[in-house]
Amino acid sequence: MSRFWTDKIASLDPYVPGEQPQDKKYIKLNTNESPYSPSPKALLAMQEQVSERLRLYPDPNCVTLKTALANSYQLNTDQVFVGNGSDEVLALAFMGYFVGGKPLAFADITYSFYKVYAGLYSIEPKLIPLDDEFNIVPTDYENLDVSGVVVTNPNAPTGKALPLSDIESILNTNPDVVVLVDEAYVDFGAQSAATLVNQYPNLLVVQTLSKSRALAGIRVGYALGHPDLIEGLERLKNSFNSYPIDRIALAGATAAVEDETYLKEICDKTIATREQSV
Ligand SMILES: Cc1ncc(COP(=O)(O)O)c(C=O)c1O
Repeated sequence: MSRFWTDKIASLDPYVPGEQPQDKKYIKLNTNESPYSPSPKALLAMQEQVSERLRLYPDPNCVTLKTALANSYQLNTDQVFVGNGSDEVLALAFMGYFVGGKPLAFADITYSFYKVYAGLYSIEPKLIPLDDEFNIVPTDYENLDVSGVVVTNPNAPTGKALPLSDIESILNTNPDVVVLVDEAYVDFGAQSAATLVNQYPNLLVVQTLSKSRALAGIRVGYALGHPDLIEGLERLKNSFNSYPIDRIALAGATAAVEDETYLKEICDKTIATREQSV
């Protein structure tokens, strides 16, 4: 506590990142990092960036990465936003789309950062309970009087996923607010709502390179949505930090997204290990 702190700083309840023990004695699962190496092509692309070119700022529009993502999801580049980890994308989306007086709906058991962003932006959470088997109950999310809805699919830490038909009924019954679908773990076995982006102007799909692409160390996440929603995020980003993705991360992330064969290989291995351990 400092006498220079504003009431806002004093009121915050910050996120506590998963512990990172330095003694390497454990198999560490608490932050869901990949046990596999990133794509060798991504590693090479990053090594090539360690050069005199680092004196130059990176591309603020991240065109190579947006193009790779747009190709991968069959979208246009103006439907793609990239940020410094999906945490940053979530922070900007909360600031841009959920501040507005009404509460923000999300599950009572889910990614704990949502409550922290809600506190930061003075958004009241409307916590919707999971059922007794830890499932999200989609009908509880229909026709809500809220500033927005966040659905984590698959949910974390439960790992339980909703089919796209349930995501669509949440989108259809809340047409006047943004429905953010956080798909941090979608590559491990759920259907991505990225295929719905052209149909629903209120849909924002958020994904990360930290989990399935084994690149938590370079901090890259992205959002897919209607060009107007994406432009809103760009306006916020360019009012805060124009260069959140550095040259090394940009090169590595682009190569990783282009290397779909490697993504499938390490996801298949992760899924096989999961099936073995249950
Ligand atoms: C559900 C969910 N969303 C988002 C994130 C943030 O990921 P990152 O900021 O590494 O992209 C995490 C990380 O654990 C997560 O579990």
